[in-house]
Amino acid sequence: MPEAVDLRSDTVTRPTPAMRRAMAQAEVGDDDYGEDPTVRRLEQAFAARLGKQAALFVPSGVMANQIALRVLTVPGSAVVAGRRQHVVAYESGAAAMNAGIQFIGLDDEDGMVRPDDVVWARLAAAHHQPAVSLVCIENTHMAAGGRPWCLERLRALAEAAGPVPIHMDGARLFNAEAATGIAASVWAAPVTTVMCCLSKALCAPVGSMLAGDAALIEEARSARKRLGGGMRQAGVLAAPGLLALTEMVSRLPEDHARAARLAEAVALRWPACGLDPSSVQTNIVTFAHSDSAALLAHLESAGVLAHAIAPDVVRLVTHHDVDDAGIERAVEAIATAPDGEKV
Ligand SMILES: Cc1ncc(COP(=O)(O)O)c(C=O)c1O
Repeated sequence: MPEAVDLRSDTVTRPTPAMRRAMAQAEVGDDDYGEDPTVRRLEQAFAARLGKQAALFVPSGVMANQIALRVLTVPGSAVVAGRRQHVVAYESGAAAMNAGIQFIGLDDEDGMVRPDDVVWARLAAAHHQPAVSLVCIENTHMAAGGRPWCLERLRALAEAAGPVPIHMDGARLFNAEAATGIAASVWAAPVTTVMCCLSKALCAPVGSMLAGDAALIEEARSARKRLGGGMRQAGVLAAPGLLALTEMVSRLPEDHARAARLAEAVALRWPACGLDPSSVQTNIVTFAHSDSAALLAHLESAGVLAHAIAPDVVRLVTHHDVDDAGIERAVEAIATAPDGEKV
């Protein structure tokens, strides 16, 4: 039996052979003393790529988001965000515990929040609602089928936010770059802080980055320490992270083409499921299916793993460790899958 075609998430990617070699050879020091040369190189390379003054290497995307909340908000304030964003829905309540904030969850059906809704939330603070300390966005937006933001909308959002900072959860920002041709630094320009994951589509085994201005990133370094995220000889993890940035971004269009192929198969099998294949621009396909448990079981029996992100919403994610043959196996399994169009 060949290895399963794992479409559950792009977090399942394994480090490439080049990454394993780089890990073995990495020059290291104690990063808590600021002495790990490989971590420094990664932080500088990432800051330069994002057009920000400084960057911080952290163990996970969740920690990067949580640190941003810690340094940009005050307890008792509100953070405006799309209601299906990772920071709102998938971080085990961390924001309430670590930052003492309350979310104002906005409609994010198309993956973006509306600038007018942000203006409304800011004005509502005059009428018993909590003051808005931060706006969070997600680019690409996972639950919206990996949709990249629209740059014009982002610029309008920055105007609507006024003095309120914006944090971008760019776990898959390089997928947005690959899909739109808009450089990560252009996406990052209107926002205060931006986080990207090296451990998802870019194949690094561990690690995410948080970028912003130098003073903020110094605060973020202290916040990381308080959360127990100081990593000592972390150069062995930063070395594959550098390769993630330099070697892995250019291949992302392959993942996007494979996701488009899956989207066509889904739309053919369930024409009324609401998936427009042309809306799939990056590496994530989400669609409604009224019996997702039966569908996942069918796919698994054909050697294809998928994931349900809501009771009736199935997700397929392409990545480096799934090739064309794997996609064709998934396409065949979809063609013979049970009914289940959402009515
Ligand atoms: C959009 C988004 N943000 C943040 C994260 C958190 O990243 P990590 O799993 O590295 O903590 C994820 C993880 O899947 C994600 O999809």
